[in-house]
Amino acid sequence: MQSKIRVPDLQALQAEGMPITALTAYDYSSARILDNAGVDIILVGDSLGTVFQGQETTLAVTLDEMIYHARIVSRAVRRGLLVVDMPFMSYQTSARDALVAAGRLVKEGNAEAVKLEGAGYSLEAVRRMVDAGIPVMGHLGLTPQSVHAMGGYRVQGRGKKDAEQLHEDAKALEEAGVFSLVLEGIPEGLAETVSSALSIPTIGIGAGKHCNGQILVLQDVLGLPTREAQVSPKFVKQFADIEGEMTRAVSEYIEEVQSGIFPGKDHTYE
Ligand code: KIV
Repeated sequence: MQSKIRVPDLQALQAEGMPITALTAYDYSSARILDNAGVDIILVGDSLGTVFQGQETTLAVTLDEMIYHARIVSRAVRRGLLVVDMPFMSYQTSARDALVAAGRLVKEGNAEAVKLEGAGYSLEAVRRMVDAGIPVMGHLGLTPQSVHAMGGYRVQGRGKKDAEQLHEDAKALEEAGVFSLVLEGIPEGLAETVSSALSIPTIGIGAGKHCNGQILVLQDVLGLPTREAQVSPKFVKQFADIEGEMTRAVSEYIEEVQSGIFPGKDHTYE
């Protein structure tokens, strides 16, 4: 095993110009594969609402569900940095609520860092958590918890005003103490400008190649069906066809059971 990735190591990777790799995981076996393969950041994303639970949005995901999945994933992760999403309404209500929720993610879910969406009202929450010793990752651009306000999952920061606001929010989050920032669904040029204006690493998803790292949802990478997959975004690259392979294996199993081939002598106790 390569040495454990901790928050300061991400800044070292950024300084070396080595792109940071990140993927999502919600279960033990996926997390073990990602960690053994050498992914730097393993995110227990609240995308588990749409991807794992088959819901239409991430809004209904609860703090208890995040803790449950984080604890499972933490049992598999030895090397990667374990970041856990703060679900909708666990931090928007007050900085105190945010601190209590983040504390639970760390104490009960074994999170090594937490992630929240947006700036503005989140800034005080970020400061309180950072003061308490909890590393916080920001998330700007297409922020799925604001799906209704955005009018759907749309590319953000296209107009001049929106781009300037995003730039300002990124600076404000950095000043508030986030150690890294996810930039989702924004034009490449804006991601490049923001990344070069910040001293913390940016992690892009649908934000082009000029971020300091990249993140994707594992199921998208593997080609597994998800609720969102019907409208697979342009930025997703599928690196395998696990749905096809699983379908083949399950069909073969059905065929062998039905035809009496399985279980054969090799899989039977005398
Ligand atoms: O919830 C999630 O999985 C995320 C990433 C896609 C950035 O926030």
